[in-house]
Amino acid sequence: MHKFLFIGFIILMFSALLLMQIGCTQEVENKTLSQEEMVALGKYIVSTSGCDDCHTPKIFTETGFVFDTTRLLAGFPEEQVLPPLDVNMIGPDKWIATEKHLSGWVGPWGISYASNLTPDNATGIGAVSEEMFIKTLREGRLKGVGRPLLPPMPWQVYGMKNDQDLKAIYAYLQSLKPIKNEVPQPVLPDKMGEFFANK
Ligand code: HEC
Repeated sequence: MHKFLFIGFIILMFSALLLMQIGCTQEVENKTLSQEEMVALGKYIVSTSGCDDCHTPKIFTETGFVFDTTRLLAGFPEEQVLPPLDVNMIGPDKWIATEKHLSGWVGPWGISYASNLTPDNATGIGAVSEEMFIKTLREGRLKGVGRPLLPPMPWQVYGMKNDQDLKAIYAYLQSLKPIKNEVPQPVLPDKMGEFFANK
C-alpha cells in the first residue's frame, strides 16, 4: 500500500512540474518584448539561420572565408563581376553554380543575386514595412508584393517561423547600418547565354 502511495506521489510531482513548465513556456511566448529585446532576438535568429551565408559578402583567408562584417547583409556586392561560365553545364540534371561570395547563383531559373537586407532606402529594404517583410517570407514575393522570389532563397523554410520571430528579424535588419549596394537584377534563363557570351 505504501509503495502505491509513493508511486502516486511521484506521478503527482511530475505532473505538477510538467504543468509549471508548460506555464513558463507560454509566458515566454506571450511576453511582449521591448524594441531592444526584439532586435536582440532578431540578431540571434538571423545569425543562427544562415542568412549571412548568402546575404553577407565574404573576406578570403588561407583556410576559407569569413563574413565581411563591414558589409553585414548588404547582398551581392555591386562591384563583383561573375566569372565566365559555360551555360551548357547548367540544368536540372547538370550543375548549379555560385560565385565566391555565395550570393550570385546560376541555375535552371537563371541568375539570381542575394538582396541587400540593410535599411538603405534606395538599394536595401529601408522602405519595406514590417507587414511587407513578413509577406515576403510567407508568400515568397519580392518586397511582399512583387515577382516570385527565385532560388536559392529558402523563403518556404523561414516563412514557417512565428509572427514574433519574423517581426524580430525585421527589427534587427532595420537596426543595421544602411549600406548603399545596388544588387543587379536577375537574368532570365534564356538570356544567360548572351550574358556569359559578353564576358
Ligand atoms: C541559400 C542562399 C540564401 C539564404 C541562406 C538566405 N537568402 Fe534571402 N535571398 C537569397 C537570394 C538569391 C535572394 C534574391 C531572390 C530573387 O531575386 O528573387 C534573396 C532574397 C531575400 C529577400 C527579398 C528581399 C526583397 O527586396 O524583397 C529577403 C527579405 C531575404 N532574402 C531574407 C533572408 C533572410 C532573413 C534569411 C535568413 C533567415 C535569408 N534571406 C537567407 C538567398 C538566400
